[in-house]
Amino acid sequence: MIVPPSLPDIDPPLLNTASRWASTEAELTELYNCTSTGAITVRTSLLRGFKDDPAVHQYCFFDESSKSPSSLNTIGYSSTTLPEYIDIIHKIVTSSPIYSHKPVIFSVTGSALEVAKCVSLLASSSCSSYAAAELNLSCPNIPGKPPPAYSPVALKEYLMALPKSPKIPIGLKLPPYTYHDQFAGLLEVLKDLEVCPISFLTSVNTLGTSLVLDQDTLRPKLQWLTGPGIGGMAGAALHPLALGNVKTLRDMLDEASLHRIQIIGVGGVSDHAGFRRMRQVGAWAVGLATALGVEGIGVFAKIQHGSRTGFEYPG
Ligand SMILES: Cc1cc2nc3c(=O)[nH]c(=O)nc-3n(C[C@H](O)[C@H](O)[C@H](O)COP(=O)(O)O)c2cc1C
Repeated sequence: MIVPPSLPDIDPPLLNTASRWASTEAELTELYNCTSTGAITVRTSLLRGFKDDPAVHQYCFFDESSKSPSSLNTIGYSSTTLPEYIDIIHKIVTSSPIYSHKPVIFSVTGSALEVAKCVSLLASSSCSSYAAAELNLSCPNIPGKPPPAYSPVALKEYLMALPKSPKIPIGLKLPPYTYHDQFAGLLEVLKDLEVCPISFLTSVNTLGTSLVLDQDTLRPKLQWLTGPGIGGMAGAALHPLALGNVKTLRDMLDEASLHRIQIIGVGGVSDHAGFRRMRQVGAWAVGLATALGVEGIGVFAKIQHGSRTGFEYPG
């Protein structure tokens, strides 16, 4: 029986997830060289890049005065292509002052065939010994392209296009599911394949169709000129749903004898207590985006060491 490669150890089990703050060479270098990240994730890229439009692709934070802020975004994918990211990461890893076998997760998307090509490209690249591919099938912000991970039929098409015996670990970035049949649909697809090429699940992406209004003007906080300011929500407001998703996935994977599939738990983690909650419900490693955007790189040491040194939220 073919068993796809697992993600190597992530030590500490803490990493950034794909986001606007893991986009440039400078940001990725800082994330890679941080001793409190056990792996890093590169922002979602495509084979041929994505046209960024600052009038549409935006983010904001809300509940900034609380201990744990949240975020809303209409951000699309990176304008840097996957081949460009492979070169950037190779340069970062080979010139890093730390000796590290840190895994680098490349978030990729596109059509089923394009995504399969991304996986092949990574497997034959200069980064293949430490690279993993995370298929982002859950971005809620692309009009006309509903997240395939909400549709078992679309999901199956993606998985069928992947190599039967992958050379690098492949994961799926999942959207937040809100009712049982959505989890069951995913499990059916994973179980039905003759060989399931998936090694890990990253749960959860942002929750789409969310709206935040400025409390004084009652206008959308996202100044999206051409739209109503609706976007994907993340951060503290997403945390209970993210915990519920990770717990449900872990239980259902175990029941289906898919113990080998690891879960990266994401959503609203900004301190050591949140990290512990994610681990408690079954996250093998814990990822974050919003707290990195709010606090910067110091958030990882704060979470790892369980202290509130470094950043203090105002109020
Ligand atoms: C501004 C912003 C950009 C993001 N971009 C991506 C992306 O390119 N690919 C992806 O898979 N997830 C993306 N995400 C989702 C995050 O990786 C993460 O799944 C989500 O924000 C929940 O984690 P958090 O509560 O720690 O922010 C983005 C999130 C934010 C806030």
